[in-house]
Amino acid sequence: MNINIFENSELGSQFVAEQIQALIKKKTKLTEEVILGLATGSTPKELYKKLVSMYKAGEISFEQVITFNLDEYHPMSHDSEHSYHHFMNQIFFDAVDIKAENTWIPSGEVEKAQIESHCREYEQQIVDVGGIDLQLLGIGTNGHIGFNEPGSTIDSVTRYVELDEQTRIDAAAAFGGIDNVPRNAISMGIDTILKAKEIVLMAWGSGKAEIIRDCLFGEITAVKPATFLQKHPNVHIVLDREAAALIDVD
Ligand code: GLP
Repeated sequence: MNINIFENSELGSQFVAEQIQALIKKKTKLTEEVILGLATGSTPKELYKKLVSMYKAGEISFEQVITFNLDEYHPMSHDSEHSYHHFMNQIFFDAVDIKAENTWIPSGEVEKAQIESHCREYEQQIVDVGGIDLQLLGIGTNGHIGFNEPGSTIDSVTRYVELDEQTRIDAAAAFGGIDNVPRNAISMGIDTILKAKEIVLMAWGSGKAEIIRDCLFGEITAVKPATFLQKHPNVHIVLDREAAALIDVD
């Protein structure tokens, strides 16, 4: 794994924004579409702000970009302020020139009976566009990626999942109390993520230091799903000093 440590999250986010810019330039020159796998949570917020600034400065265009988000709570109305649909529209999609029909997010609105086919279609849509070029990831304090909670296997695909207690505790403040945090979600699987050609995982702050050490250097295990990233040939880990505090990189 390629580990990049920055003085702060702003510089780390700038680095990732430039990587995305370079990928878009390279592929659009060949008139190819660019397929991005996107993450939510607090970690990528600065990155999205940087990409929006680059767009406003005329330095980047998302006209040939297709995106697939990792996950969404279920049940969850797309209009809810807690939905990842709302998050992505507000922070990124509505502020750039991406075509709405090119932005895919698992739906929190599908009926329970339709979830399985919805998940299968989501996987197929990714295959149909040729697979994800670059997958962005954050990491949960329990080692989840997307909503692949402890216990998720390496062959897991997009599916209905139960949220881990720790994940619900971490989300409680944003939802105004743990009782308001959904118990379920739809998430891309570990296999879906590992099929991406390139993966960029970002982590900021001391709260992530322990799980970053365990996931980058610990035993590969479903107990900490991010450890499966060790098996991927093209992973970039982007950290600030605090998140990197427990790893020895020399
Ligand atoms: C959330 C998301 C993940 C995200 C992680 C970390 O619950 N489902 O995709 O990476 O938890 O969140 P944060 O970036 O806010 O620390």
